[in-house]
Amino acid sequence: MSLQDFLLSLGPSTLMGSVALLLLLCLVSRSFGRATRREPPGPRALPLLGNLLQLDLSRPHQTLYQLSKKYGPVFKVHFGPRKVVVLAGHKMVKEALVGNAEQFGDRDISPIFYDMNQGHGILFSNGETWKEMRRFALSTLRDFGMGKRMIEDKIAEECNYLIQKFEDHEGRAFDTSRLANYATSNIISSIVYGSRFDYDDPRFINMVNRANEVIRLTGSAPIQLYNIFPGLANWIKNRQLLLKQVAMNFRDMTDLIQQLKDTLNPGVCRGFVDCFLLRKQKEADSGVIDSLYNEKNLLYSLSNLFGAGTDTTATTLRWGLLLMAKYPGIQDQVQQELSMVVGNRRVCVEDRKNLPYVDAVIHEIQRLGNIVPMAVPHKTARDVEFRGYFIEKGTTVFPLLTSVLYDENEWETPHTFNPSHFLDKDGKFIKRDAFMPFSAGRRLCLGEGLAKMEIFLFFTSLLQQFRFTPPPGVGEDELDLTPVVGFTLSPSPHKLCAIPRQ
Ligand code: HEM
Repeated sequence: MSLQDFLLSLGPSTLMGSVALLLLLCLVSRSFGRATRREPPGPRALPLLGNLLQLDLSRPHQTLYQLSKKYGPVFKVHFGPRKVVVLAGHKMVKEALVGNAEQFGDRDISPIFYDMNQGHGILFSNGETWKEMRRFALSTLRDFGMGKRMIEDKIAEECNYLIQKFEDHEGRAFDTSRLANYATSNIISSIVYGSRFDYDDPRFINMVNRANEVIRLTGSAPIQLYNIFPGLANWIKNRQLLLKQVAMNFRDMTDLIQQLKDTLNPGVCRGFVDCFLLRKQKEADSGVIDSLYNEKNLLYSLSNLFGAGTDTTATTLRWGLLLMAKYPGIQDQVQQELSMVVGNRRVCVEDRKNLPYVDAVIHEIQRLGNIVPMAVPHKTARDVEFRGYFIEKGTTVFPLLTSVLYDENEWETPHTFNPSHFLDKDGKFIKRDAFMPFSAGRRLCLGEGLAKMEIFLFFTSLLQQFRFTPPPGVGEDELDLTPVVGFTLSPSPHKLCAIPRQ
């Protein structure tokens, strides 16, 4: 007897009864399954609002850090109806991102980042697109000198422009953010377009300003609210503003790409864009259909490299200069070591190993600066059993980098600027496992090598040339270290004097 015949042989009421029984069994077995699967602990959530009343949306990393003290290193919290699992402390973040790299390695793409990237590019993509775009970006960044001489020369050239612009202020107080942004933006520009921009180029100025505005807006409370309740899209003014800035930047980038297309020479790869265009052509010639080397992935990868690489590096540099002005004793030691080891010649990457104190100071700037406090949200790629807890596939995961960089079990004085964290008793530089500003595992920052080289060369070149001090009439104690929250944590607006040393 077939299944159909069997069903027909049952009367309608028996059939309904059987369906109801089956449904009941399903429900019971699901809730029984859930009961045996222990979820991470966390504060009790209200319907719809979740834990929103307990979370400071303009500084979520701080609330989560406090909650981790109460609920432990793996806990859950509800951003409205959305459940988020938070990983806190060095041990836990490492165990998840490195020890269970595959399971915790997907990107959580919040509504605003979906609006901005539509699943293309590197930063907010998953699956094959992410794999291919990340691999391609890494290999071209390497070819274009991440960790090589070629890019070192470009950074050195940019240092000269930056020093010149700092000198133009003739020791008077100024805000360092604009120039720091131009310098780091030009390094990425050289790598992707093959050339830098003049600091007075109006298109460049607009592109950098817009990129900063995008960072500010993505971290704003209204956008957090939109991410939680995407149905509010039309009421969130910041979303419209943000998408407008993104569209304008895409228009400029498309123009720049077109100029490179018009002058493309298959024998010479001037930068990332050329390499991408040649690869795209190669795939088309070999008849590859649905190639990932398409216009959208080019545009979004490019925008990701700028977005992730400019503000982060410039912000770190600004923290560095601010901390030097605030702690003149530490600035003295940096300058003494630079004078002894390098003197007046140009600093190069090779010098780093002979500058243990400077190296320790730079690491400590990145640790205390803590500029990406919650990394970029991850998502579980499948159901995970972790530390005795069950975490469902597709759950948003925040690796709380703040709690790693300020982990009280790892750092002697977690909340103070203390370069000794990276020095042994003989003054030699020591690596620390809990130094994780670039995150870890599959999604580890793709620009780590480049960023380290930039920070080292910009920081040392500036300190060779200038003494950094607060503006006249402002005491070192008055320099405020409270960060402004955006997508990254940057110093509050401030001015410094760059006084020429010779
Ligand atoms: C001080 C400077 C920088 C810091 C602190 C930093 C930090 C980070 C962090 C925390 C992440 C998220 C990792 C995760 O999801 O777990 C990230 C991702 C990323 N960073 Fe950086 N970054 C810096 C500079 C750069 C530079 C210069 C570039 C460009 C070449 C860059 C490109 C990227 C990209 C493309 C991703 C996404 C990786 C992926 O999703 O696979 N970053 N970065």
